[in-house]
Amino acid sequence: MKAAIYTKYGSPEVIQIIDVETPSPKSNEVLIKIKASSVTRADTMMRQGIPKFGRLFLGLFKPKNTALGTGFSGVVKAIGSQITKFKVGDEVFGEKLFSTGSNSDFLCMSENELLENKPKNISHIEAAPICDGFLTSYNFLKEHAKLKKGQHVLINGASGSLGSAAVQLAKIMGAKVTGVCSTKNIDFVLSLGADEVLDYTIIKVNELQSKYDVVYDTVGKLSYSNTKNVLKANGIFMTPVLRVGLLWQMLRRPKKVKFEATGIKKTEDLKRLLNDLVNFFKQGKLHTHIDKKYHLMDIRYAHQHLDTGRKVGNVVIINP
Ligand SMILES: NC(=O)c1ccc[n+]([C@@H]2O[C@H](COP(=O)([O-])OP(=O)(O)OC[C@H]3O[C@@H](n4cnc5c(N)ncnc54)[C@H](OP(=O)(O)O)[C@@H]3O)[C@@H](O)[C@H]2O)c1
Repeated sequence: MKAAIYTKYGSPEVIQIIDVETPSPKSNEVLIKIKASSVTRADTMMRQGIPKFGRLFLGLFKPKNTALGTGFSGVVKAIGSQITKFKVGDEVFGEKLFSTGSNSDFLCMSENELLENKPKNISHIEAAPICDGFLTSYNFLKEHAKLKKGQHVLINGASGSLGSAAVQLAKIMGAKVTGVCSTKNIDFVLSLGADEVLDYTIIKVNELQSKYDVVYDTVGKLSYSNTKNVLKANGIFMTPVLRVGLLWQMLRRPKKVKFEATGIKKTEDLKRLLNDLVNFFKQGKLHTHIDKKYHLMDIRYAHQHLDTGRKVGNVVIINP
């Protein structure tokens, strides 16, 4: 089978497509034929080996794990003897955390990992990126913000993967949503259901007169310091992008400043959140926006597109 790998850190040119043996499922695993897989900001950061302290885990001088890709959707082709939840032919989606390898033709997953039946009303292409933007933003809005009906949330980076998911989820949760994006993405963010859209090329968030219960900066461009004047008395600032300054603010104000690496939550907690998302998709309340699709052989171009920082929604790799 074909698989995307990287044996050194660097630009998209370090990615190679190689032939490897198709894996065989262990007794507690299913073998999945990958139909679509995601290319995310986390994937591009692993490829570059950034932030540099991450190399303590990824490999100091070169990646220890060379396989690329975490999110996927596909069809179960074989099952191990202990598998009870899935059968051959099931359409499934999920995320291969840490050990990665979804940018390939086949993948083995244990049924205890982040693996769920794909809602029938969405395609593999729409399902593959769910564990990136939707799962991360749902974790932030539900577990950290504990967003309630009628609250006002400002979502910065509303056109990205996490942002486009957050706008839709915050509306489902009954919040009033202000999305922040550039001029070219205003119509897109309005189409997601935002009540109001602000153009960051014209308006600075810290100059706004409104007060918010939650500022969710999905792209790590704001800080608690430069948004505290737009937060209500009990308002919180949260971001999925880790920086040294953020850690300092979290230590000083743990109730007001929030960050979490969603991928290191307990799998059972992630599965609980994912279960809610599956129901929202089944009810037609959520939609995955696909910016671009590439074939596995062209995955370098997908990484190049992500490196521009201008992605709108999600990017997926499709397998024939
Ligand atoms: N903590 C976690 O568990 C976790 C999980 C997943 C991802 N992440 C992180 O979350 C971040 C966001 O990921 P993503 O995939 O959503 O990003 P993304 O889709 O690549 O974000 C690109 C979008 O950001 C917008 N943007 C760029 N500069 C902006 C600015 N100054 N203000 C507002 N919007 C701006 C761009 O729109 P324009 O072209 O219009 O500027 C573009 O649509 C990444 O850093 C990723 O590593 C963290």
